[in-house]
Amino acid sequence: MPGHFITFEGGEGAGKSTQIARLKTYLEGLGLSVVVTREPGGSPGAEKIRAMLLSGGAKDLGPRGEAMLFAAARADHVDTTIKPALERGDWVLCDRYADSTWVYQGEAGVDRDYLKLLETAAVAGIYPDLTILIDVPVEVGLGRVAERSRTDDSGGPDRFEGEELKVHQRRRELFLELARSESYRFAVIDGAKEPAEVETAIRNAVQETFAGDLNEGGASGVTAEEAH
Ligand SMILES: Nc1ncnc2c1ncn2[C@@H]1O[C@H](COP(=O)(O)OP(=O)(O)OP(=O)(O)O)[C@@H](O)[C@H]1O
Ligand SMILES: [Mg+2]
Repeated sequence: MPGHFITFEGGEGAGKSTQIARLKTYLEGLGLSVVVTREPGGSPGAEKIRAMLLSGGAKDLGPRGEAMLFAAARADHVDTTIKPALERGDWVLCDRYADSTWVYQGEAGVDRDYLKLLETAAVAGIYPDLTILIDVPVEVGLGRVAERSRTDDSGGPDRFEGEELKVHQRRRELFLELARSESYRFAVIDGAKEPAEVETAIRNAVQETFAGDLNEGGASGVTAEEAH
């Protein structure tokens, strides 16, 4: 596949959306074509499933059925958004992907083998080249989310935000465990730092992973800021 596939993972309020926007700006500054997308959702079909999942409308299905809906959304997202973009040679930055299912539904007690089967079917061979795990203490992430919903009109917490602290703590541990066991594709970034520092750490990880590819297609290869 000629493109590059980077996924962003981490708990609520870790800074995923903030940092995806910054990395997009950086890559576009190099003249590269970037597609930003998110899960659940990222394609018209999957966005419909997202609305059901995040409103809690699928909770009645139970954890196994809910996991299947996440997989259905992912299959559509891969087929109609991610794979075509990678085939075009684009850089795909995806806000959550299969690792989030592993962590969220895994924490909810869904059988690991079942989750693996669903993942294998849904991703159809499309795995990230690099996964940025933005790690923050749970209180920091939740504090940011609380502040965000106070200052914007995003409404109350969604189905996955309104849960208790120890659930969030277990998810954080599961993400870190996954990053240790699949360290070849993970970069774990300290997300408690200032946004600019987090951005630099992510940029370094991207440069390390894709060393040769970052100069291709760029007008100058480096930004003016970095040239001196
Ligand atoms: N490094 C940082 N330091 C302080 N505040 C931050 C930092 N990064 C992001 N924020 C702020 O914290 C809030 C959450 O950030 P953001 O929306 O990027 O997180 P997220 O991981 O996408 O969250 P969610 O999982 O809820 O989508 C935002 O209001 C954002 O401006
Ligand atoms: Mg976000």
